[in-house]
Amino acid sequence: MNDQAHTLRRMFSQGNPAPLPQILSVTSGKGGVGKTSIVVNLAVILASMGKKVLVLDADLGLANIDVMLGLTPKYNIKHVLDGQCRLEEILLEGPHGMKIIPATSGIQELVDLSYEQQLSLVNTLDYFDEDMDYLFVDTGAGISRNVMYFNAAAQRIIVVVTPEPTSITDAYALIKVLRNQYGIKRFNLIINNVLSKMEGDEVAKKLTLVCGRFLGDVALDMLGSIPHDSNFSECIKGQKAFVGEYPNGAVAKGLIRITKQIDRLSHGHGTGNLQFFLKRILLNETKGSRHAEYSIPSSY
Ligand SMILES: Nc1ncnc2c1ncn2[C@@H]1O[C@H](COP(=O)(O)OP(=O)(O)O)[C@@H](O)[C@H]1O
Ligand SMILES: [Mg+2]
Repeated sequence: MNDQAHTLRRMFSQGNPAPLPQILSVTSGKGGVGKTSIVVNLAVILASMGKKVLVLDADLGLANIDVMLGLTPKYNIKHVLDGQCRLEEILLEGPHGMKIIPATSGIQELVDLSYEQQLSLVNTLDYFDEDMDYLFVDTGAGISRNVMYFNAAAQRIIVVVTPEPTSITDAYALIKVLRNQYGIKRFNLIINNVLSKMEGDEVAKKLTLVCGRFLGDVALDMLGSIPHDSNFSECIKGQKAFVGEYPNGAVAKGLIRITKQIDRLSHGHGTGNLQFFLKRILLNETKGSRHAEYSIPSSY
């Protein structure tokens, strides 16, 4: 461990060790597979169940969380990094009190912070102590450094795949890099845009077979599938969350089942502090090769 990382680590180990919220990254090999749509809807469902949910929009793609929900951010994380405002000033509020950190602009900067910038950001975080149950990170697609950075900081990586062959091969490529370069061996799958549950199960089986054959010790746990529904684009145009508009359809049922599964899997996880999440991201040694989960003690 280098001296700087060591100093940061020591700083964070002082004071009360707060529990971490459950941190989930939602990622994919190929773009346009439904990551942002899924994050928005899972967050809305969890928030409607009374959970405190935060979404970090780290996707440089076209449709961002704020756009999908019809919110207009005045500032984003770049302004925080530039010292123009504090983190709590950029938070947006979505349905049922869910919170969003608009970060699209500034994501690359966040990944490439100098040591001095990291320290200054960490100092601003000390004033921010809102507790959260769930933190979703909507990552970009592919295997770029910033995507890896956020995936390696998460406790649970949800890979979104569609039945398209390129989506499956790109998901395999992403899993391979996370396995070989970051030592991550456990992933969750959501199969989106399926024509039937059977199709979703077949895609999961195919990806599991390929990973088992070529990567060996990788475990893919299926969270569920979400059917194709042409009303998605209408919801995006109307800047509304799908589950709010069509709460009783097959898509909503699929999303609710997945949410319950996530909630069950995170059973026992405490409500945690946002500053710990961002500190975890900052401390993330993704420039090295280990998964942050193993490299940072939970009590830091
Ligand atoms: N289950 C689905 N059925 C139909 N269209 C979908 C579904 N999920 C997502 N879409 C559409 O796919 C497009 C890409 O979704 P988006 O969430 O922006 O993907 P990503 O974040 O992975 O780039 C959007 O136009 C969205 O409406
Ligand atoms: Mg997106």
